[in-house]
Amino acid sequence: MNYSLRPTWVEIDLSALQHNLQQAVKLCSVTQRVLAVVKADAYGHGAVPVTQALQSFGVCDFAVATLEEAIELRQAGISDNLLILGSCFPGQEGAFLQYNLMPTLLDMDTALRLNVEALRQQRQIKVHLKVDSGMGRVGFLPGQLQELLPQLCQLEGVVVEGVMSHLACADELSSIVTTGQQEQFRIMLQMIREAGIEPREIHLNNSAGLCGWECTECTLSRPGIMLYGGLPGADFSTKLDLQPVMHLRSHIAQLRQISAGSGISYGHCYHAPDDMTVAVLPIGYADGYNRLFSNCGQGILRGEKVPVIGRVCMDWIMLDVSHVSAAAVGDCITLLGSADNLSISGDEWAEQLDTISYEVFCRIGSRVPRRYLPEP
Ligand SMILES: Cc1ncc(COP(=O)(O)O)c(C=O)c1O
Repeated sequence: MNYSLRPTWVEIDLSALQHNLQQAVKLCSVTQRVLAVVKADAYGHGAVPVTQALQSFGVCDFAVATLEEAIELRQAGISDNLLILGSCFPGQEGAFLQYNLMPTLLDMDTALRLNVEALRQQRQIKVHLKVDSGMGRVGFLPGQLQELLPQLCQLEGVVVEGVMSHLACADELSSIVTTGQQEQFRIMLQMIREAGIEPREIHLNNSAGLCGWECTECTLSRPGIMLYGGLPGADFSTKLDLQPVMHLRSHIAQLRQISAGSGISYGHCYHAPDDMTVAVLPIGYADGYNRLFSNCGQGILRGEKVPVIGRVCMDWIMLDVSHVSAAAVGDCITLLGSADNLSISGDEWAEQLDTISYEVFCRIGSRVPRRYLPEP
């Protein structure tokens, strides 16, 4: 073996990304487009390469969370519609105009600041007005909207390009919260139209919404997690045919023969019950391999599942490979994703870690190099 990069890496399968996008497109009505959510470094998959791949698969609309994320995409030459799901914070107005970015409009103060800057530059800025139909997080509440719409209509530098809201409970296949939000969204849209604003874009659904909840008025859907192969909720496993995009792999750095009774790793929380063969992998919690996997993680080696033993360290983990007789230094062990027709999904990790696959993917550290397949 001769390593120019560390022997621990994440493989990003762009053909799986394309497959998942096709599933999202199928769920959209003929009049809807996919607005791909590529925030948080495309949920840890790499914002620039993922966005470029999605562009090549026909997507023209993207969303990130922050100005910095948007600038990264612009500097990589991505000139498509770019919505920032976070706000335009004081002092960022000039950059939003400079990089031709659309902020999500969450409050009137921001609208006023954007208007001043746009008029100063003798330009207009497109915004997507966010209404809180029941998410209880950010956006204009129904009462505020009534009061602020006349003011918003007066702002010559601000164009309401889109109206959007976000669902709180769409991962529950039948939820009265979601039916209530759909109804509230319709009412708020009506108020906006009555005030004389006709948005070109209307959007409500994330991945879960897209799978279970129709939005007839919507021109866009905003899937994120399903593009990356994660289920938006446990009940969706039979509804969605998704493929994992992220595969976390590492090569065995050392194979050690240890005798029965030996303690393994910090705290000796594992003692070998028999003589055994232990594989040491150069990966640890600094790479996003969670410490909670101590004594309970798994890897795939030569078509077999092998258990993690002992504490997960910052840079190393140990696995019991005693029953894989052909195991050799340099062999690849897959910790997340699939290999040899076996898989360890982000959703399985999430269940073990008591979280959601979103966090699993985002937490795979920046120290782990990403390899994109198929190579361009
Ligand atoms: C406003 C908004 N829209 C869409 C999404 C995408 O959601 P999902 O990844 O569940 O599809 C998110 C993600 O958090 C979001 O915050």
